[in-house]
Amino acid sequence: MTEILRVRGNRPARGKILQAAEVIRKGGLVAFPTETVYGLGASAFNPGAIRRIFEVKGRPRDNPLIVHVADPDRVETLASSFPARAKALACAFWPGPLTIVLKKRDSVPPEATGWGPTVAVRMPAHAVALSLIESAGVPLVAPSANLSGRPSPVIAGHVEEDLAGLIEMILDGGRTTIGMESTVVDFSGRVPRILRPGAVTAEDMEAVIGDAVVPGVDETGPAVPKSPGTKYRHYAPQAKLVLFAPENYREEISGFLAGHRMKNRKIAVIAFKKRHIYRDCLNIYAGCEPLAVAGRLFQIFRSLDALKVDLILAEPYLKEGGLAGMVKDRLLKAAGGKAGLRDEGLIF
Ligand code: TXA
Ligand code: MG
Repeated sequence: MTEILRVRGNRPARGKILQAAEVIRKGGLVAFPTETVYGLGASAFNPGAIRRIFEVKGRPRDNPLIVHVADPDRVETLASSFPARAKALACAFWPGPLTIVLKKRDSVPPEATGWGPTVAVRMPAHAVALSLIESAGVPLVAPSANLSGRPSPVIAGHVEEDLAGLIEMILDGGRTTIGMESTVVDFSGRVPRILRPGAVTAEDMEAVIGDAVVPGVDETGPAVPKSPGTKYRHYAPQAKLVLFAPENYREEISGFLAGHRMKNRKIAVIAFKKRHIYRDCLNIYAGCEPLAVAGRLFQIFRSLDALKVDLILAEPYLKEGGLAGMVKDRLLKAAGGKAGLRDEGLIF
């Protein structure tokens, strides 16, 4: 049985938080809201509880977890070094949607870090998350609270859909504000690298540290760990999702739909411009501004799964700068890393 407790507002009810903290202390799993997505929390120092997180999510064991803290001073107890520039970022963006990868201390269980040499740390900007961590008295490992490969949950109902009966408790704090996962920046190598784009952008970070923050993983450098999470299909609806190149995309989508009208397939098109309507399909407007799209996209994926749509076509997301990079990243990952109809060899 999964207990669901409603904890709304900036001052979450003390009694409910204490109940949840007790579950964590006993080695249980509690899903809780953050400002990005819901996390599935366990004590970062309980290897048995951490193993259960991997089991219930069906997550590959080499994919490390983020350790959530309620106080930046805690980092020193998890990481063997906290470089000045990383500390400056923590100062500027914590609590907030930024995860910092550092060299780990031996005290962090290897189960939490995929047996790798680094640990990812973040202080979330959410009253429920922070008071849960404080009350539990330990940092919490917390991946997104979805089954592995499914879209991250942005409301408690999504967590219930995936994990009801498998975990002890869900703290329902309403809809998360950002709707997509935190930026992951790696400080364990020679230069800071963004392993996953999120609401804190490269420009935001460069403005604080005055140095370049580069995207991607270091393929040439010595033993710089990658974000293992990036090698798995992510954030994905069950239906195949196909992206289109910016050139002539409206004609390409319309042509594709015309060719498939008779095939009895349920096709949805996700559009980022309100006036774009395509014939003979389910038209979904996902918003235009990046924050609006971020807040809706994973919910749209889940709704299309519920409708048993066969195929999802997505217009190209044409905005640039700011949070647009995060939105494009999640669309590309949902499409399995492939952009464009021709890449897919989609002939029915
Ligand atoms: O916004 C978020 O980050 C949410 C909320 C709950 O905090 N959490 C989240 O966790 O998205 P998860 O496990 O779904 O994604 C964590 C990502 C994965 O891609 C993982 O591979 C990467 O961070 N990661 C974790 N530890 C790492 C490490 N030591 N080195 C490199 N990448 C790491
Ligand atoms: Mg995840």
